[in-house]
Amino acid sequence: MGGEQIRLLVIEDVPQVASHLRSLLAAQSQIKMLEVVTAGDRAVASVGEYRPDVVIVDALLQGRVSGQAVAETVRRSEPQVGIIMLTVPQNPVREDPERGVDAVLKMPFTGFDVTTMIRKVHEERGVAASRAGSLVVSLFSPKGGVGRTTLAYNLAVALGKDHKVCLVDGSLQFSDLRGLLRVPAVAPSIVNLPTDRVRDSDLAEITWRDPSGIDILLAPPRVEMAEMVTVRDIEKVLGMLRKIYEFVIIDTRPALSEDVLVFLDAADIILQVLTYDSMAIRGLVMAGETFSAIGYPEHKLAIVLNRADSSGGFDKGDVEAALGAPIDYEIVSDGRLVIAANNEGVPFVTSSPDAPITKDLLRIADALAAHLADRSPALARR
Ligand SMILES: Nc1ncnc2c1ncn2[C@@H]1O[C@H](COP(=O)(O)OP(=O)(O)OP(=O)(O)O)[C@@H](O)[C@H]1O
Ligand SMILES: [Mg+2]
Repeated sequence: MGGEQIRLLVIEDVPQVASHLRSLLAAQSQIKMLEVVTAGDRAVASVGEYRPDVVIVDALLQGRVSGQAVAETVRRSEPQVGIIMLTVPQNPVREDPERGVDAVLKMPFTGFDVTTMIRKVHEERGVAASRAGSLVVSLFSPKGGVGRTTLAYNLAVALGKDHKVCLVDGSLQFSDLRGLLRVPAVAPSIVNLPTDRVRDSDLAEITWRDPSGIDILLAPPRVEMAEMVTVRDIEKVLGMLRKIYEFVIIDTRPALSEDVLVFLDAADIILQVLTYDSMAIRGLVMAGETFSAIGYPEHKLAIVLNRADSSGGFDKGDVEAALGAPIDYEIVSDGRLVIAANNEGVPFVTSSPDAPITKDLLRIADALAAHLADRSPALARR
């Protein structure tokens, strides 16, 4: 977004108001006023034609189609467009994004009022729309060997049956997914991302299509190449993946370092993976303190207990008390199945669809799919 002009379309049938807006906006260059549409019934077609980021609609439009009706239709047909309703104090309008009113601009207003409001609405709508159609899920544990890579791969494949999924190898140094899937060294990775102007179409050239049907964004093939990937690169690529995929599933390495935090910040949901192991539990308790200091909301965090039937003398209630949160999902142990599947580089969810471990994993996949559908039905269908 940064640096680019915000495209504004004005739907206004009073010429004096339109020219007032035009003169206020002439003093700045961040917002580009594309056109003034003078009738409500042409508004939706004009939005399709001019592709604005934000529209200003006069609540008191004369003619067949009211300002409110315009707002509602634009919201339904172009949910990514921010909408500001322009009104007078005698005609109060309530802010209601569901009905297409993201903000209300009351006359009289200054150039500062209108530019500030346009920028705010644009930013909020952009974030909401880019997030609504996709879910980014990071698997995290401060302790190694708890099953993140195994679960991330199988979860991605399970979701891939009905959704567009990209699995991201966030273990940037050791590229766990390359190991698991025995990908050829020449397969592209995140380091192949062009450094200057990146376009969405470049993504197809840096992702690897797994035989299971999902796309994988691999980590670099050599340890020292991890240093070539900056936090900024990761943010950029995740933003692009969000636009194209419904699910972005991220495997991470066991640390709370800058490169892991960028995957956690970007996540809508962090699946914290642990086993009945005192070090894994202690690590998550410590990470939890960091998460609350950062300000991650509770709904962003979920707990997955892997190998849940190997309690090693631990009591589930005690573990939940230590973590200060309930265990959301449990996955049984199945060493025979998991090791064989991992050694062949195949997902157990497809090789053993009826195994208890598959059923456990599908519960997570189903919950995530339901979560995506809840977010914004209109956008999810796009
Ligand atoms: N539910 C399970 N039942 C049996 N074995 C499992 C289960 N989950 C994972 N494993 C085994 O545990 C080992 C570690 O799994 P995995 O590599 O997925 O963990 P990780 O958290 O990604 O580890 P790392 O710290 O190396 O990144 C593997 O040998 C895997 O086969
Ligand atoms: Mg791993």
